[in-house]
Amino acid sequence: MLEAMSSLLVTGGAGFIGSNFVHYVVQHTDHDVVVLDSLTYAGDEASLAGLPADRVRLVVGDVADAEQVDPLVAAADAVVHYAAESHNDNSLADPSAFLQTNIVGTYTLLEAARKHGTRFHHISTDEVYGDLELDDPEKFTPETPYNPSSPYSSTKAGSDLLVRAWVRSFGVEATISNCSNNYGPRQHVEKFIPRQITNLLDGVRPRLYGEGLNVRDWIHADDHSAAVLRILEAGRIGETYLIGADGEVNNREVIETILTEMGRSADDFDHVRDRPGHDMRYAIDAAKLREELGWEPQFTDFRSGLRDTIAWYRDNESWWRGQKAEVEAKYAKAGH
Ligand code: NAD
Ligand code: DAU
Repeated sequence: MLEAMSSLLVTGGAGFIGSNFVHYVVQHTDHDVVVLDSLTYAGDEASLAGLPADRVRLVVGDVADAEQVDPLVAAADAVVHYAAESHNDNSLADPSAFLQTNIVGTYTLLEAARKHGTRFHHISTDEVYGDLELDDPEKFTPETPYNPSSPYSSTKAGSDLLVRAWVRSFGVEATISNCSNNYGPRQHVEKFIPRQITNLLDGVRPRLYGEGLNVRDWIHADDHSAAVLRILEAGRIGETYLIGADGEVNNREVIETILTEMGRSADDFDHVRDRPGHDMRYAIDAAKLREELGWEPQFTDFRSGLRDTIAWYRDNESWWRGQKAEVEAKYAKAGH
């Protein structure tokens, strides 16, 4: 149980979801935050702009660096571990950083949490469960067997299993959450939704992998942050909570919605080379989180959430412009 004014160590807090959580914590609690982030291509100090300096401090460093991690974990009341290599396409091009950060980084933090008795919350993904058929009546539950498909999701699965083992073998006070696809402001333009929005802002047609029938279960990043805070406050140690907002939509429909919201014809996009091993469908059953912890999503209208996200990218070109050319060059090389 967290005290009302605690000190949180948020790893990866300069990335998309981690920075959302830091903003959320500052707005909704009295906790202080130390962000530990190595500012890879995916991390940006600008994502923490406007936050009060007396409550949020950025430490630039690597979660796999035990010497740097140890004193930060010792000083924290709880660690919230977001830092990861997070993009499937990158993991297919070169898996090495995924093993180092996602596996060794999580191991390093767990060892520090064990040594100092620090509460630990591990942020993970629904992708650890593999994928579902389009007509599968079941969704993912905490009991679904692990079956990851990509180098990214297999390293996330490995990190989850480390957390479970450190709870059972060493008594580390940890919880895990596995969330579905997030959208919202400050997401790197390599990801599906911001890539299409910024393509359109640049006068380029959106790019759909394959036929685009793959389904993702979209949740607004603010709803994810609210769920993580709730788990920190009231989650049971050793438990896994699945986070999702019943937001299943296929990729083609997402692109059509973005196009029409941006004043273009719904069929104004290109089909490009599919992702190897591309997971077909993810879907979360969040009953445990809703019933046990009383969490409910606030963003239940995907079109309206997308409209706000489009407006954010339109209004914040200086945030994303520096990422765009390199990302598109990488995609062009991969045939995407
Ligand atoms: P992101 O790529 O936007 O951000 C990752 C952050 O981690 C960046 O700020 C980066 O600089 C930092 N980082 C990377 N390696 C590091 C290292 N070795 N040491 C310290 N910092 C490092 O990722 P995201 O989309 O915000 O995802 C955050 C977490 O949430 C990840 O663990 C991911 O698996 C999980 N997740 C993401 C989604 C999603 O839809 N994006 C859904 C479910 C779970
Ligand atoms: O499910 C949670 C996961 O969601 C997180 O664990 C990952 O960190 C996060 O990146 C995300 O993984 P996906 O692979 O689902 O997200 P991505 O944004 O890369 O792609 C979403 C879907 O859109 C996927 O089916 C591939 C497709 N796609 C992607 C891009 C970049 C396209 O059709 N065109 C594109 O240009």
